[in-house]
Parts: sequence; C-alpha cells; structure tokens
Amino acid sequence: MPYEKSVGALKELQDEGKIRFIGVSNVSVAQLDVARSIVDVVSVQNRYSAFERASQDVLDVCARDGLAVPPWYPLGVGDLGASGRTVEDVGRRHGATPFQVAIAWLLQSSPVTIPIPGTASPEHLEENVAAAALRLSDDDLARLDGLERGRAAG
Ligand SMILES: NC(=O)c1ccc[n+]([C@@H]2O[C@H](COP(=O)([O-])OP(=O)(O)OC[C@H]3O[C@@H](n4cnc5c(N)ncnc54)[C@H](OP(=O)(O)O)[C@@H]3O)[C@@H](O)[C@H]2O)c1
Repeated sequence: MPYEKSVGALKELQDEGKIRFIGVSNVSVAQLDVARSIVDVVSVQNRYSAFERASQDVLDVCARDGLAVPPWYPLGVGDLGASGRTVEDVGRRHGATPFQVAIAWLLQSSPVTIPIPGTASPEHLEENVAAAALRLSDDDLARLDGLERGRAAG
C-alpha cells in the first residue's frame, strides 16, 4: 500500500468528521513530509529514548515545527546493555532508578517529547510518575549524551 494512500484514507475520515487529529508512527523525515503534504499532522510516534536515538532527525523536525512526540519504548529497557552502569550512576546521584532517568531525560530533552511508559504494575506506575519531579543536571545530560555518541561510533 503506497504511503500516500494510507494517509489519504485518514484525510477522508477527517473530512467526514470521524477523526479530529492525525498522528503518524514509525516514519522517516521523507514520509513525514509526504504525510504533511496531504494532512495536518499533529503528532509523531517513533521509537526514541535516551538510549536509542535513530529517529533524532525526525525529532528535530518535530521540535522545529511543534509536533508532539509520544515515543514508543520510551524506557528503552532492552537497550541499556553496557550503558546500564552509567545510567545507574546518574540515577544514584538523585536516588532514582534507571527507568526514572529515562523518563526524566525525555521530559528534559525537548519540549515536544511526551513519555508514555507502559506498565501493568501499580508500583512501576508510581515510580514512573515520580520521575516527573527528577531534574537531571547539565552534567547528567552530558553523560547520557556521551552514551549515545559512543553507541553511534561503535
Ligand atoms: N507505534 C508503535 O509502533 C508502538 C510500538 C510499541 C508500543 N507502542 C506504544 O508505546 C507505549 C509505550 O509502551 P512500550 O511497550 O513501547 O514500552 P515501554 O513503556 O518503554 O516499556 C514497557 C515495559 O517496561 C516495563 N516497565 C515500565 N515501567 C517500569 C519500571 N518503572 N521498572 C521496570 N520496568 C518497567 C513494563 O513492565 P511492567 O508491566 O512489569 O511494569 C513493560 O514490560 C504504549 O502505549 C504502546 O502501546 C507503540
């Protein structure tokens, strides 16, 4: 199915008044451009976290143009790998878990990123909500940025 046709179907539904706002998911910058040439896109959901920034180019467009980004897999739990120790160190300074660091990073990294961590556990829900109060320092952010640069180089 050509991407234009999928987006065109959303436009028809919007024109019929059946949907109000349109968001797209797992897009490249080129696909986002195509979608925006057909409809008004208000949000983009790609995989993105402190530990997985392959969609940084899409994020940059969203930040520039004010499109909301509720990324999927925002905790990047499976991506920690060898980076885990650094993330634990950053968290320890604040009495926070790595998951809270991941959420705080998304909240602080851009005004358009909206973390929506999934959980079936009330304890994890409380832990995740509490992360909104965590303020990472410039040094913390630099260490987390260093992780990503290391991954990109490796
Ligand atoms: N557009 C797409 O292609 C796409 C793809 C996937 C997901 N999504 C959406 O993205 C949202 C995010 O969900 P996600 O599944 O991608 O990833 P996620 O929220 O990053 O991770 C969910 C996993 O993390 C665990 N978890 C959550 N909080 C935790 C904590 N404080 N400590 C330890 N483990 C914790 C959860 O287990 P517990 O239940 O045990 O807490 C669950 O296994 C959902 O709304 C989902 O529907 C969209």
